[in-house]
Amino acid sequence: MKRTIIITGGAGFIGSHVVRLFVNKYPEYKIINLDKLTYAGNLANLKDVEDKPNYKFVKADICDFDTVYKLVCDEHVDGIIHLAAESHVDRSIKDPFTFAKTNVMGTLSLLQAAKLYWESLPEKWEGKRFYHISTDEVYGALEITHPEGIKPPFSTKASSGEHHLAYGENFFTEDLKYQPHSPYSAAKASSDHFVRSFHDTYGMPTIVTNCSNNYGPYQFPEKLIPLFINNIRHRKPLPVYGKGENVRDWLYVEDHARAIDLIFHEGKVAETYNIGGFNEWKNIDLIKVLINTVDRLLSREEGADMDLITYVTDRAGHDLRYAIDSSKLQKELGWEPSLQFEEGIEKTVRWYLENQDWMDNVTSGDYQKYYEQMYKDR
Ligand code: NAD
Ligand code: TYD
Repeated sequence: MKRTIIITGGAGFIGSHVVRLFVNKYPEYKIINLDKLTYAGNLANLKDVEDKPNYKFVKADICDFDTVYKLVCDEHVDGIIHLAAESHVDRSIKDPFTFAKTNVMGTLSLLQAAKLYWESLPEKWEGKRFYHISTDEVYGALEITHPEGIKPPFSTKASSGEHHLAYGENFFTEDLKYQPHSPYSAAKASSDHFVRSFHDTYGMPTIVTNCSNNYGPYQFPEKLIPLFINNIRHRKPLPVYGKGENVRDWLYVEDHARAIDLIFHEGKVAETYNIGGFNEWKNIDLIKVLINTVDRLLSREEGADMDLITYVTDRAGHDLRYAIDSSKLQKELGWEPSLQFEEGIEKTVRWYLENQDWMDNVTSGDYQKYYEQMYKDR
């Protein structure tokens, strides 16, 4: 079946993995990557697919309703997978307006463009899909009731054989009420509500998924894992917020992309699915794994760089623990993460060490100058 799908934010971290998967797996689809190329968007993330005949890049702002609407109509778009967003909590604390604009108004602009076009067609909503990618952070923060960790009630391939602990008895389930704390999660929560409102009010076929922290290649090095890998490599201090006891639930980015593919095609309209691999880590334990892995792969004495750990002032409103219950997705659609955490971390560290050019480009800002010039020349 032929389809035309817009993937927003396709030049970012997760978006680039989703674009790559769809372009390679579905040669009969037309995949349009709509991205504004903010500091987080980098077309070098998609070098291997940029010349494929079923791939098209459009530089545009999701908040620009006229441009988005024209694109949806001109291209006869029947599916939207929406990842474009401002995504970093620390930035949202400094600049909440940008987060409200992109994450809320941008999502509304996409929804309205799709609604106006799809409603104008004789078949209306049939065969259409608006899939919104969200985060587990909308649920707020869980308590740590077992600081030493307990055996979790679930296990998956992604759960680390050695580690595999939960730090409390509660998990985020789909029916939990939203309690966002940061401007980032508040803006994402608001966008989730708008998406659901378009289903409930107009009948638009929408789906929302809420995923835990992702890690893997092409993540912008302001986020914990790529930032710390790069700092360890260059023997720069590792700024650990607070006591390093906050817990995050980590999923390899390609496993998220596979879940998005499955849910886009087989998920039930109006449903919410949580995505996560039951893989909780205290920040400080994860950081020690990163140090040992980088040291080993650089043939340094393992653990030699532990003294880079530098405790700094905690993040304002720092959520204590995230832990996703993804059993609905696993039971209803049969999704399972493919990697154990140790394998995923090893692959990820290797990738950053072997792609130092990518890292240097991103940290120097050169990737933006290159593409600015490319667009000026067109
Ligand atoms: P990212 O910051 O790496 O990429 C965001 C992309 O969106 C960039 O390419 C950027 O240029 C683009 N963009 C930003 N504003 C835009 C605008 N106004 N118009 C068009 N494009 C714009 O983000 P990510 O980490 O890949 O996250 C992607 C999505 O997944 C986000 O919606 C995020 O909330 C969600 N999510 C992320 C994680 C995670 O761990 N990274 C976890 C769960 C959910
Ligand atoms: P981050 O990668 O920013 O993701 P999120 O805030 O969306 O979970 O941070 C992951 C965890 O690491 C979070 O608890 C904050 C912590 N952290 C640090 O301790 N130091 C840092 O420099 C960064 C970026 C994060």
